[in-house]
Amino acid sequence: MASNAERYGRIAPLYDMLELPFEYARYRRIRPLLFQGLSGRILDAGVGTGRNFAFYPASAVVVGIDISAAMLARAQRKRQKATAEIELQQMDVTRLDFPDTSFDAAVATFLFCVLPDEQQVPALCELGRIVKPSGVIRLLDYVRPRGTFRRVITKLWEPWIAWAYGASFDRRTEEQLPEAGLELVDSRFVVPDLVKLISARPAADGSRGQGSAVPVEGSIQR
Ligand SMILES: C[S@@+](CC[C@H](N)C(=O)[O-])C[C@H]1O[C@@H](n2cnc3c(N)ncnc32)[C@H](O)[C@@H]1O
Repeated sequence: MASNAERYGRIAPLYDMLELPFEYARYRRIRPLLFQGLSGRILDAGVGTGRNFAFYPASAVVVGIDISAAMLARAQRKRQKATAEIELQQMDVTRLDFPDTSFDAAVATFLFCVLPDEQQVPALCELGRIVKPSGVIRLLDYVRPRGTFRRVITKLWEPWIAWAYGASFDRRTEEQLPEAGLELVDSRFVVPDLVKLISARPAADGSRGQGSAVPVEGSIQR
């Protein structure tokens, strides 16, 4: 089975074109919600081709990381157009090369739905580790719909999105927050019965997550 680094190396030249209809119909409206009230140093994990750039708070310093050099190369080309200060680095979200508590916030859009099940807790642990105790973690992600119509549509899309993006509608990200030492602050649908905005923070008791032993997917150059 392909790793995410391989998958996104393959899909990178087509990514923006394939996403365009969804970007206009759906994502443009919901991406700003992720950044409301955020400032300071922000991590954008799984930054991809930089589709969040336009929505970064102008005064923020954003570090975008991604496992795919091909996706980052496309983000690099868009960097000049953004108003925020942006730094891009190739990195695996399950092994972040940043000191503890070095960010005010961490965000990820459509990252956790593409992370294999065994990488969910390690990735959440890493986001919890690098944000300050008062820090915020916000995730925008697909979930499996309950309604029949949307459920059928997701079943039809499933083989394609699994092959092309490594994505699944059945990740357990939200329920795995406590295992990663995080507390749920808010969880709400921003596209009815399909896309959730999840807000979390490091647990108040200071407990750190247990899931840091990570099976590595592909090799990473830093
Ligand atoms: C569906 S794309 C989303 C990209 C972007 N956030 C967006 O909203 O368009 C998922 C991104 O996560 C990246 N990714 C997958 N596994 C990763 C990992 N372990 N660490 C960092 N990035 C990863 C992929 O390379 C890809 O760019």
